[in-house]
Order: sequence, then C-alpha cells, then structure tokens
Amino acid sequence: KFEGLALTPPMGFNTWNTFESNISEELILDTAREMKANGMLEAGYEYIVLDDCWSLRERDPEGYLVPDPEKFPNGIKGLADKLHEMGFKMGIYSDAGKTTCAGYPGSQGHEYQDARTFASWGIDYLKYDWCATGTRDPIEAYTTMRDALYAAGRPIVFSICEWGTADPWLWGEDIGHLWRISGDIYDCWDCEQEWSRGFKVILDLYHDKKPSVVGNDGLGMYSGPDGWNDLDMLEVGNPGLTLAESRSHFTLWAMVASPLMAGNDMRIITPEIVDILTNKDVIAVNQDKDGVAAWRYRIVPDSYEIWIKPLNGGDWAVCVLNTADEAQEIHIEWERLERAIQGEFDVRDLWADKDLGDTHTDLTAEVGSHDVLMMRLTKK
Ligand code: GLA
Repeated sequence: KFEGLALTPPMGFNTWNTFESNISEELILDTAREMKANGMLEAGYEYIVLDDCWSLRERDPEGYLVPDPEKFPNGIKGLADKLHEMGFKMGIYSDAGKTTCAGYPGSQGHEYQDARTFASWGIDYLKYDWCATGTRDPIEAYTTMRDALYAAGRPIVFSICEWGTADPWLWGEDIGHLWRISGDIYDCWDCEQEWSRGFKVILDLYHDKKPSVVGNDGLGMYSGPDGWNDLDMLEVGNPGLTLAESRSHFTLWAMVASPLMAGNDMRIITPEIVDILTNKDVIAVNQDKDGVAAWRYRIVPDSYEIWIKPLNGGDWAVCVLNTADEAQEIHIEWERLERAIQGEFDVRDLWADKDLGDTHTDLTAEVGSHDVLMMRLTKK
C-alpha cells in the first residue's frame, strides 16, 4: 500500500448514512460549502467520500465505469477538481464483488482498470465493500485492489469494508489504512437488527471481540498509525440520536481512534452538532499522534463505563459513559485508576471546557443518561 497516508485516523464526510442513493454533484458541492463555512474543513474533515450508487448500472463497451450523467453532469473528475480547489480531498466507493451492495458494477475482474480510472479522476480515498463476493477470499481480494491502486501511481487511502467477518484487524494493516469491524451502523443507541446496529452495540463488539489481553481488552491493540479499526461512519446529528447520544458517540469514536467520517446532512446541521463535530480538544484525542486506542477500564453493567486512552507525552484521555436510562452522579477515585494511570495530573472537562482540579482530589460529577464526561489528564 501507499505508506503514511493515514498516520492519524482519516476525517471527512460520507454520503451513505443520510443520503444512500440520493446523491449528486449539487449535494456534494453544497456539503463542501457548508463544511467550509461551519469550520469542519478547518477542524480536519478533509475527505468527502461518495458512497454507493454514483455510477450507471452497466460498464461501457470497453469495461469502464461510467458516472451517472444525471447525478454527476461534470463527471467525477469535474467534481474532484472542484473539491480540490476548495481544499478538500475526494473519496469514492467500489466493491470487491461482481456488484456493489446496491447492485451497481463491482470491481471484481476490473481492479487494475478501475484503479487507473480512479487515479485519473484525482480520487484520494477508496472505500471498498464486500457485497456479491461469493466464495472470494478477502485477503486475496483486498490485496489485488491494493496492488492495483499502487500500480496506478496515485496515493489513495484504502478503506477496507469487509464488516469484520474475516478478522481484518489481523491482516488489514498490510493491505489498507482502515478496516470496518462490523456490519452497518444505524442512528440509534443500542437497537439491533440483522444488518444494522446502534453505536453502543458496535462499541460493545469492539470491546468483546478479542478479550483477555491483560489491561487492554478489545480490538484496540490491532490499530495504530496507518492502520485503524473503523467502527463505521458517524451518525452524529442524525434524527435517531439525542444530543447526549451524539456527543457520546463522537467521544467514544475519538477515544478508540476510529476514523471520523460525518454522515449527517450538512445543509440542516444545528449549531449544537457543529459544536460536537468541531470540538478541537476531543478531535485532538482522536488525532493524537501516538495512535493508541482506548480500552474499557471498568464497567458497571447498565450503569456506567470508564474508557481510557494514553496520549502523546504522558497525558491521558478518560471518558465516563453513563449507560443508564437516567442521569447519575459519578464518583471517581483517581487511585482506582492507578493500575493504568500513574502520576499527578491536572484534569479538564473537554465538553464543558472547564478545569476540574487535579488527581489529588476525587471527583463527583453529574452525567446525563447516555451522555459522557470526557476529560483530559495533563501531566503536572
Ligand atoms: C454496505 C456498507 C455500507 C454502505 C453500503 C452501500 O452495507 O457496509 O457502509 O457502503 O454497503 O450499499
């Protein structure tokens, strides 16, 4: 793969969660303009990714993918040029099988041709899905596209979307820059259907998948600079989440160093959601250059969880997630975290933007239902 393209988790926007097949050049340019105006581009959201449904249903007679001319009157190249002028990078979507999940042409058997097409259009990021792959071996399939992208010569972030069925955290790092660990996210707290699930369900799966490595449960041990667990695109700001749930979803994705790909409608975004998506201190936890992912340090079922993440220079991020259905007072005795966190620290509440004293004094804080207390511990 092209090394070094994702030394911190990629940040951007993806069309799927809100728009599915309802995509167009106009939507993308409106989204880009909004993200420039509301501060998201400046906050680091640089990739604008077109998901499924951008092409025609058939390839052309020479086997090339054809952008739907009704949705993209200036082609993908025309759109990519405009996004680049505005300061963004552009991502696109394909699939390792015969068709994409929505039934458009997949790249199987056309990998080198499609990689050259994407490179010639100025694409910077490819999300590569896993529908209609039959008996194909995922390592072979993703390696083939990796090599095709490399041969095409343009640095393109490679996003493996295999849904975690073949343990991509064990092989993804050599092949791509990020890999999905589950089926699709949905805009709810913990709903669960066959194919879609709430963010809390994905977080549990992340924790439970590879248990019992002392002090560091979960999939976090497999991720790091240039190879990240992808807990799926953000539902922050979408209708099924309360404001508190949007805040905790964003915070936990920052903690586990997941990519931060917004999935809401930028044209109707509220100031509260802009504040969540552009919180510099929380983003800094996600983008910390050491790239160590958080793990769940403590759980009191149906009450609260404590997640901790070491940061560059000896600081820590500590997040308390209230999983109960009502608000509660959380009491933190710092010495009970001493198995992981040693030393003296100043404590800052990153959402309230407020100092909370230091680790010599225990802390009591009210945390709303499904909300978080997100703290940075700065070494004294
Ligand atoms: C799969 C992926 C989603 C999205 C859709 C598009 O379900 O996991 O993220 O890309 O396909 O059809």
